[in-house]
Amino acid sequence: MSQKSFDPIWNKIYDAGAMPRAPYDYIASFVFRNADKNKDRNQLNILEIGCGGGNNVWFLALEGFNVCGIDGSASAIGAAKKRLSESGLSADLQVGDFTRLPFEDESFDMVFDRGALTCCGTTSIQKAIGEAHRVLKPNGAFFFNPIADSDTSYRSGVSVADDLTVEIKEGDYSGVGQIRFVSRRDIDIFMPETTWNKKRIERIEITDMLNPYSKVVASWRVEAIKVNNG
Ligand SMILES: C[S@@+](CC[C@H](N)C(=O)[O-])C[C@H]1O[C@@H](n2cnc3c(N)ncnc32)[C@H](O)[C@@H]1O
Repeated sequence: MSQKSFDPIWNKIYDAGAMPRAPYDYIASFVFRNADKNKDRNQLNILEIGCGGGNNVWFLALEGFNVCGIDGSASAIGAAKKRLSESGLSADLQVGDFTRLPFEDESFDMVFDRGALTCCGTTSIQKAIGEAHRVLKPNGAFFFNPIADSDTSYRSGVSVADDLTVEIKEGDYSGVGQIRFVSRRDIDIFMPETTWNKKRIERIEITDMLNPYSKVVASWRVEAIKVNNG
């Protein structure tokens, strides 16, 4: 696996016990909004790229969808497999790099990213979005969830190659290694109209007014349909 696209800090974070168990509500909303109601849930193939410890995968498997997850961290995938097995659920969970997906072309109805692609530089994000496009079926739905450049952490770090920020000192993203903070313009560059029909571009911002510097936590929620000329 390329050192550039996967930062091994994630194994340390997970080994220290920082592994969310709850699924993200906006991921559930994305899936239910895009699920074809004329099909049984077990006929709908869903992939999470950068699935971590399987919080979202676990919930979607519980809801009856056919789920796959890939993550660069062996610690995360091990924990995800254990959790699903303890719940009597199944999913295809693999250690791997989302810039080189081990799946057939046009095999998924939905692909989603919950805060994972933003852990890589521009080159890897573009490769990973290209891979998401490749493995999606025609008219399949994609969700992209990077950290926004209006986040307080952006201004407190050091800029390095491939548009990454490291040594982040303030905000929610200090201590999580490298982050690619994403602008509104970046979204159009990563997901041009020729390959994606964007349905939603939302910037979610929370301002912590107790913090003396009014800390801002900001991310994008981008939802798009694969344009069938890929
Ligand atoms: C912020 S965590 C998100 C985990 C999960 N999606 C969630 O909602 O809790 C980011 C994840 O991306 C994974 N990751 C980072 N770079 C990766 C890469 N190149 N290939 C696969 N996974 C990667 C990390 O191991 C980590 O589990």
